[in-house]
Amino acid sequence: MQTVSQLDMLRNTVSALRAGEKTLALVPTMGALHEGHLTLVREAKNHADHVAVSIFVNPTQFGPNEDLDAYPRQLAEDSAMLEAESVALLWAPTVSEMYPDGYASSISVAGVSEGLCGAARPGHFDGVATVVCKLFNQVRPDVALFGEKDWQQLAVIRRMARDLDLIAPGADAIIGVPTVREADGLAMSSRNRYLSPEQRQQAAALPATIEMAIAMLRDGHEWGHVQAVAEDELLMGGFTQIDYFELRDADSIATLDADNGNARIFVAARIGGTRLIDNRAVGPTYVT
Ligand code: PAF
Repeated sequence: MQTVSQLDMLRNTVSALRAGEKTLALVPTMGALHEGHLTLVREAKNHADHVAVSIFVNPTQFGPNEDLDAYPRQLAEDSAMLEAESVALLWAPTVSEMYPDGYASSISVAGVSEGLCGAARPGHFDGVATVVCKLFNQVRPDVALFGEKDWQQLAVIRRMARDLDLIAPGADAIIGVPTVREADGLAMSSRNRYLSPEQRQQAAALPATIEMAIAMLRDGHEWGHVQAVAEDELLMGGFTQIDYFELRDADSIATLDADNGNARIFVAARIGGTRLIDNRAVGPTYVT
C-alpha cells in the first residue's frame, strides 16, 4: 500500500495504478476505522481493480461546538488495518494540503440536504459535499462507496455527483453499503468509542426504538403517535436529547406523515455529549 499526503504524489500514484486501463474505487473516510469501514473496503474490491481509501478529518463539516478536536485520529493503526485488506493507496492529506491559504470555495446541495442533519448541524453538508467533490477530483475514481448509516449524506453526494457530472455518468458510480451493526443492533460508528460502558448499553435503545416504531407503523398506528412513543422510549432509555426522529422518503428525503412504500425512519439522538445517528427502511425492503 502506498501512503500519500501530497497532491502531486497522489497524481503520480493514481496514474501508475490506472496504467493498463485498471479501474479504481475510492472509500472516503475520516479514519478511526472499524468493521463498517472495512466492509466498504471489501465491497469496493468487487467494483474495481484497485481500492483507494482517503483519511481526512474534514474541519469544514464540523460546527463550532462539535467534536473536531476530540475526533479520534490514529493514522498508524488505520494504516495497518488497510494494509491487511490489500488496499492499494491511502490518501491522507493534511488540512493545509486540502484547504491551502486563501481557499474560498464551497458546494451547497439544495433539497436533500435540508432537514434532519442539515437542520441539526448547519453547514455540515456543505462541508461534506465540498470535501467529497475535492476527493473525487483528486483521486478520480470510477466508483466511490459510502455507508448507509449516513443515508442523508449518501443522498447529498449522489445528487451532487449527478448535478456536477462527477465520476462516470450512471446511477451505479456512488455505491451505498448497508450499515454494519454490533451484536445488539447499534450501528458501528467511530463516535461509539466516546460512550462510557453504561452509555454503550443504553445506546442499543436507538436501533431497538426504530424497530419498535417500524412494528407500530406496520400495525397501523399513525406516525404522530409512533413518533411520540418512540421519543419517550429513547428519553426513558438514557438518551438525553433527541435532535430528530422522523419519517422521510428514502430518495427525496422529503417529510412524510405515513409510509409511502419508500419510507425510512431517521433518528439522531444524544447520550451526554455523544451524538448518534441511525436509519432504517420501513417497508418490505427492510433489512437488518
Ligand atoms: O462519512 C464520513 O466519514 C465523512 O463525512 C466523509 C464522507 C469521509 C467526508 O468527510
